Amino acid sequence: MDNEPRFLRPNAIIEPLVDGFYAWVLTVAPVQAAMNLTFLQVPLLESYLQSPPVHIAASQNPALRGGYFVNIGEDRAGEVRALLDSIKRDRAEMLRFAEAIMEAEDMLRQSASGFDLTPLYPKLPPELGGLVELAYDTNNQPTLRFMEPVVYTSSIYSEDRQSVQLSIEPGYERPFILSTPRLSSPDVLDLRIPFRHPGLEALFGARVRPSTLGELREALELPDDAAARQLEGLLTTQPSLNSDRHIDGGGRIRYFGHACLVLQTPEAAIITDPFISADNTAGGRYTYDDLPDYLDLVLVTHGHQDHIVLETLLQLRGRVGQVVVPRSSRGNLCDPNLALYLSHLGLPVTEVDDFDEVAFPGGKVVATPFLGEHADLDIRSKSTFWVEMAGRSIFVGADSSGIDPLLYRHIRRHLGTVDVAFLGMECDGAPLTWLYQALLTRPVTKKMSDSRKLSGSNAEQASAIVTELGATEAYIYAMGEESWLGHVMATSYTDDSVQLKEVEKFQSWCADNGVKSEHLLGQQEWRW
Ligand SMILES: [Fe+2]
Ligand SMILES: [Fe+2]
Repeated sequence: MDNEPRFLRPNAIIEPLVDGFYAWVLTVAPVQAAMNLTFLQVPLLESYLQSPPVHIAASQNPALRGGYFVNIGEDRAGEVRALLDSIKRDRAEMLRFAEAIMEAEDMLRQSASGFDLTPLYPKLPPELGGLVELAYDTNNQPTLRFMEPVVYTSSIYSEDRQSVQLSIEPGYERPFILSTPRLSSPDVLDLRIPFRHPGLEALFGARVRPSTLGELREALELPDDAAARQLEGLLTTQPSLNSDRHIDGGGRIRYFGHACLVLQTPEAAIITDPFISADNTAGGRYTYDDLPDYLDLVLVTHGHQDHIVLETLLQLRGRVGQVVVPRSSRGNLCDPNLALYLSHLGLPVTEVDDFDEVAFPGGKVVATPFLGEHADLDIRSKSTFWVEMAGRSIFVGADSSGIDPLLYRHIRRHLGTVDVAFLGMECDGAPLTWLYQALLTRPVTKKMSDSRKLSGSNAEQASAIVTELGATEAYIYAMGEESWLGHVMATSYTDDSVQLKEVEKFQSWCADNGVKSEHLLGQQEWRW
């Protein structure tokens, strides 16, 4: 039996975890992970343990969806206590590192008054020694710059925190996951292996090429027979790949939901912001069964948890040429380096700046600027993309906003007219603190935070982008409406939501101006 050819079931899923919490950029990249652990996750667990019923009630209240509450029954509070104790014991160094960042920022505020910074180095907390540089900007504001590649080599980046849970997609919308740690469960295979472990590549490679239970057991270093039996439950003897996942002429774009597009010619395939549903029985969506066997390029537009999705990226490892990521500001606390992050997870990465070009067979991708949508934080690791493929030019706009539409005039001047534009119109996004609270070293008022939202374009801005780019087709995507991303998005629109009203307004503008438009949801395909 162990040598029988087996495929990974199409509806198998992976949840990557760090200290039990869902893994994404701000919980894995070491500087930001230390801040999140110390100032968000530990306080969250402490708050839960003070009153589990408050957290449980809040988690079940639809009006508070996406709020930071621990959604774990009181009968398992003992396990939450054990997790908190282990974090305090095993991650003491990370917790101290984050406190040191707070102290250093405070010291800079007190002491860096425009004069020589040299005397301040001895005043830095010892935990930051050799890992930061002090600098003024030209406005004489002092800042702390992290030497991120060095931090990755220090004990602050510990792969010991990483583990994965493998299971079968439950067939219902997974609950919001960013605030609730995962505990063990009998129907889940828990593996204490780092994300870059080659066994994961072997496992997910078995979606396309069969392996055997014996090989996979060895590749994943399964500890015992019980784990092997669980692994067996994730395997099948029948492949389920769809034969039309490749094309033999022309060009094709398939919308896989949210910001995920697969652009194809017979020679090449590109995927944007990979986030793929594993549920191949529900219908109304493309799944891993529809994915081309090889992806020349993976384009990642920015670091938000719905665009750089580790649970999908880990499943693509081994079948991608390059993951193209935007260059960060290098060392800014709010702007973790996406290239470093992904290369530490075993992915091949190419870092790009605005107007850098990456060729692929039969076409090219040009990185183009991305405006706003980051609560006015100085975050540079964000990019839109211009794809030239099979005679068409396609603008992948992600959540980039039209705050200053003149930007898009510069893009057109440099690259020409766009045929098709994909635009995100989540025009009333979450406030600053929803995603970045733990990184703020100086408190902001609620009013201040609420004024700085993670918002994409409204109708007026989207119309201006389309006008400036000269696009004749505009598709609204990346709205967070698909059910399979509720666990990281937590958006809940009603017909009266301002976002949907703005989409309608934009579409009627398109109709009046000879632009073909569509509000995408779930699945779509274009051939030419
Ligand atoms: Fe975003
Ligand atoms: Fe988004």
